[in-house]
Amino acid sequence: MLTPDQIKEKVGWAAAQLVKEGMTIGAGTGSTAFWFIQALGMRVKEGLQCRAVPTSAHTHELLTMQNIPVVQLNDVDKLDLVVDGADEIDEELQLIKGGGGALLREKMVAFAGIQYVIIADNSKLVQQLGSFPLPIEVIPYGFRQVQRCIENKYGIKVSLRVKTGQPFLTDNHNYILDISLNQIHDLKAVQAFLKSIPGVVEDGLFLDMAQEAIIGYPNGELRLLKNKSH
Ligand code: 5RP
Repeated sequence: MLTPDQIKEKVGWAAAQLVKEGMTIGAGTGSTAFWFIQALGMRVKEGLQCRAVPTSAHTHELLTMQNIPVVQLNDVDKLDLVVDGADEIDEELQLIKGGGGALLREKMVAFAGIQYVIIADNSKLVQQLGSFPLPIEVIPYGFRQVQRCIENKYGIKVSLRVKTGQPFLTDNHNYILDISLNQIHDLKAVQAFLKSIPGVVEDGLFLDMAQEAIIGYPNGELRLLKNKSH
């Protein structure tokens, strides 16, 4: 049986095989995307030419360490392929992302992608999104208004993400609020409500964005999920 990290390595390796000569790709953030970048680094070492837009400062560092040429999102037209992890994914390939706090750049990069592929171990595959607290990126100014507004709407607790006793700061110098909804029945309505609140920069619901997902299992099996509407 594979450990969770071995499963991540395996899906990362599988996604790295999708990168073709000359491609400009988007590289995700997180412990699963880490393995994708390692595997891609090996292919680059063997002579593959490609370049990558990072979705976070940390991913930028990882790409540089693997000698994968980095390019900025502003300097590309479209991305041939974007590969990223997810915190939750359902069978329709709807996602919750932002556990690592990189959701804004991840969504911008995904939006620029011609092909958007999610890599995940089977623990991320769920019947219904929402067990994982939904992250949203908010500007620090007046964030408590946003927090209260969501708490009042859903009658739940909304937490400000904290790191070493201080509010967690995103690469964009914003805060993250984590919303524990448990089960999200109407994804689009929740997203529309969040987007309507001034101060919300981006939400962690990635709806109708992913075309494919590579899901890894402890027995070594890989399952390819495809979004039929793409
Ligand atoms: C970061 C993300 C990550 O893709 C998500 O948190 C999955 O991370 P991991 O692969 O470490 O489980 O959205 O903002």
